[in-house]
Amino acid sequence: MTGGSGFIGSNFIRYILNNSGHIDIDVTNVDALKYGSNPENLKGLEANGRYSFVQGDIADYALISKIIANADAIVNFAAETHVDRSISTPEPFLQSNVVGTFTVLEALRKFNPKAKFVHISTDEVYGDIVEGSFNEDDALKPSSPYSASKAAADVFVLGYTRTYDLNACITRCTNNYGPCQFPEKLIPKTIIRASLGLKVPLYGTGQNVRDWIHVEDHCQAVEAVMNNGQPGEVYNISSKAEKTNLQVIKTVLDCLGMDDTAIEFVEDRPGHDVRYSLDSTKIRQDLGWRPRHNFEQGVEETVKWYTSNEVWWKNLADEKVLSPAPWKLDW
Ligand SMILES: NC(=O)c1ccc[n+]([C@@H]2O[C@H](COP(=O)([O-])OP(=O)(O)OC[C@H]3O[C@@H](n4cnc5c(N)ncnc54)[C@H](O)[C@@H]3O)[C@@H](O)[C@H]2O)c1
Repeated sequence: MTGGSGFIGSNFIRYILNNSGHIDIDVTNVDALKYGSNPENLKGLEANGRYSFVQGDIADYALISKIIANADAIVNFAAETHVDRSISTPEPFLQSNVVGTFTVLEALRKFNPKAKFVHISTDEVYGDIVEGSFNEDDALKPSSPYSASKAAADVFVLGYTRTYDLNACITRCTNNYGPCQFPEKLIPKTIIRASLGLKVPLYGTGQNVRDWIHVEDHCQAVEAVMNNGQPGEVYNISSKAEKTNLQVIKTVLDCLGMDDTAIEFVEDRPGHDVRYSLDSTKIRQDLGWRPRHNFEQGVEETVKWYTSNEVWWKNLADEKVLSPAPWKLDW
């Protein structure tokens, strides 16, 4: 696993080690410990004999080759992930997301071409869609440096899979929420700012639509692809909980017993995608995956997690991270 110290990766590690019945799986987590990571996410696992951690960069070919040579499966979560940061400071996105994925592919083809490779991508590679939903064959039309770097990685994975006959799959998931998400993201930022008595910023008119999925549902989908995904296939993952940003923020405020007066409309960020929507029929039909979480209940549990785990976010949530316009700052 790469990027296992971040939000989704750490939830995936805990899921695999604790819940999925995979007692035969040992996990090696390679993570560079960048901003999205938090060692607290994996606290307690140090003593687990099935878990080991290597601090390192996926663009470090010597390191990655050594680890990949001994793996049965590689799940690549590692990435620079914050769209706002990619607008003011794009270069690290090219390095981690494109050069990093390329390095993993090079190591795979030379040292372990038969290993299962699951590359974690995003719905953002398709760009936005006003009506209808994207399926896996639709064109990639990214709108930000972040999504452009993820789309570039995807086409490298597809090209390598065909040329070198790799056993690789790509997953493209919608917006995740749940425990351990970095405080700069919409739901945690709303919870934290509102709890601190600060205004909750909302870009533009708040009408941009995202399809929200609980992180545990995403983890189960990745598990399904790891176990049964077919070589060269792309799998969209979505739970069909499309909400405007305004609806999301209102749901969070409602859970906190607060109303809309906490909201402050702020300048929209450049290139802001209007709506994301994925058709996930393929993973449901071919791999039998289904999301299990209901949005309102999942958000309520997430709000409870953040309000009872202040020690997790206290040191991360500085003024810059909680900024109403992170895309204007240098990172
Ligand atoms: N969060 C979402 O809503 C969402 C939705 C769809 C897809 N994704 C994808 O899922 C993956 C994980 O996202 P996340 O939200 O958990 O992100 P995150 O920022 O919380 O975690 C990313 C992790 O990758 C590590 N990392 C970054 N660059 C690295 C490098 N060069 N070498 C090694 N480690 C590196 C970071 O230290 C961090 O621990 C990403 O690939 C992202 O594009 C995220």
